[in-house]
Amino acid sequence: MTSYYQHHVFFCLNQRENGEACCADHNAKALQEYAKKRCKELGIAGGEGRVRINKAGCLNRCELGPVLVVYPEAVWYTFVDEQDIDEIIDSHLVNGKPVERLMVDR
Ligand code: FES
Repeated sequence: MTSYYQHHVFFCLNQRENGEACCADHNAKALQEYAKKRCKELGIAGGEGRVRINKAGCLNRCELGPVLVVYPEAVWYTFVDEQDIDEIIDSHLVNGKPVERLMVDR
């Protein structure tokens, strides 16, 4: 069975109030919005066979956060700023080449 989306991206946006590590403390929300905007601008966002950027709750890899995961490849990334997001979009989502240096599992 093929994947409905070419790439389906989930950003953890979980916020914790108890002081434990969480992705929302690392600018995850702003960078998810940035990724969504960039994919739209690049014309790769859309329905079947296109790229979809979604928000997620805790993905249970909090200590590695902020994290996002790209399916169907199941490649996990961490990221710091818009440059990292640009690299994931340009290399992985547009050209199908995962970005080794930002991977959580190597
Ligand atoms: S808070 Fe992001 S993975 Fe748990």
